[in-house]
Amino acid sequence: MSFPEGFQGKLPDVGTTIFTVMSRRAAELGAVNVGQGFPDYPIDSRLAACVTDAVAAGFNQYAPMEGNVALRAAIAAKIVAAGGRSVDPETELTVTCGGTESIYSAIQAVVGAGHEAIVFDPAYDAYDPAIRLAGGRCIHLPLEAPHFRYDWDRVGSALSERTLPIFINNPHNPACTVATASDLDALARLTRDRPIAVLADEVYEHVQYDGRIHQSVMNHPELQSRSFAVYSFGKTLHITGWRVGYCVAPPSLTRELRKVHQFNAFSIAAPLQQAITLYLQRHPDAWREVAGFFGAKRELLRQSLAGSGLVLPEAQGTYFQLADFSSLEGADACLNDVEFTERLINDAGVAVIPLSPFYREAPAGMRIVRLCVAKRDETLTEAAARISAYTQGKRKKS
Ligand SMILES: Cc1ncc(COP(=O)(O)O)c(C=O)c1O
Repeated sequence: MSFPEGFQGKLPDVGTTIFTVMSRRAAELGAVNVGQGFPDYPIDSRLAACVTDAVAAGFNQYAPMEGNVALRAAIAAKIVAAGGRSVDPETELTVTCGGTESIYSAIQAVVGAGHEAIVFDPAYDAYDPAIRLAGGRCIHLPLEAPHFRYDWDRVGSALSERTLPIFINNPHNPACTVATASDLDALARLTRDRPIAVLADEVYEHVQYDGRIHQSVMNHPELQSRSFAVYSFGKTLHITGWRVGYCVAPPSLTRELRKVHQFNAFSIAAPLQQAITLYLQRHPDAWREVAGFFGAKRELLRQSLAGSGLVLPEAQGTYFQLADFSSLEGADACLNDVEFTERLINDAGVAVIPLSPFYREAPAGMRIVRLCVAKRDETLTEAAARISAYTQGKRKKS
């Protein structure tokens, strides 16, 4: 007998993510893809060589469940080199299948029926489904436009004895903002004396601009003891397809996360873990180059779009740039972000990501789209040229 027609699984409202949809359509239409967040340039050839070395050295069977021992030591050394605290790789650090699996395993480890997670919209799309699969539900609070700041009083009013966890994404995708030390202090004050874990998505930790210093929960004197801090080599080493990330959490939370991880991913690709280990050992400062690298690309995109009529809010971090098209004139002035995205891919041949899918309920009249700067310079200038050609004649006369 075939499975019942119309069967609804546990996430009936979830479709294919906007990132996958836009990348697929960009490929079909031959559009320039500055939508989904992945580099379109080659990886460092020295890193590629490390994979060959790792395979030749025999790193081809199951890696330890918690992660390659030398990799965890190298990560702990990198954390200290970046000004962070001393993390015990044995009890506080777990290598996972990208940052995504850290998030998922952490949630499955601590969230159950009745829990209410606080999520700030716009939000990365992996949080809400993971909470629901764990039996909880999300309370979506807005980051206050136009600067996407936290309203901590409002967070305080939303807390209850069911709250678990509070998500914080810093630097923030898609808002491109970074949390300040006082944001973390406010979060600490609100969670003090309450059994609330913090899920800190810090995958863009090293992508902060204009001299900003990353404020990590991992280094916060209070938050470090209640936080899962999530990281991704996909972002830091330009290897999103390798799917290697890690979670730093105090021993009590790490223990619980590993219980899920061992029955979920179990362990992460052994040669890739070893390749990253070799690379970090041979080039311990590689992560320091990331902010400058993406900062230059951010500037190139901003300059290339200067005459386009799009307003580009300051990008403080992440490898994205928001673009507000609300000051265009004519028919485009009436479009929402999803419609504008459609116009760009069909008429300009450029794939971008609308902002409203990052909300449970997007604010009415959303007119912001997201562009990814982790692309070859030619991709960025071509995308900007096509967008500028499209907006020609639609710009306000000054
Ligand atoms: C905010 C945020 N968190 C988590 C992830 C997932 O990281 P990974 O690709 O390592 O799973 C991404 C990837 O785009 C992201 O933007």
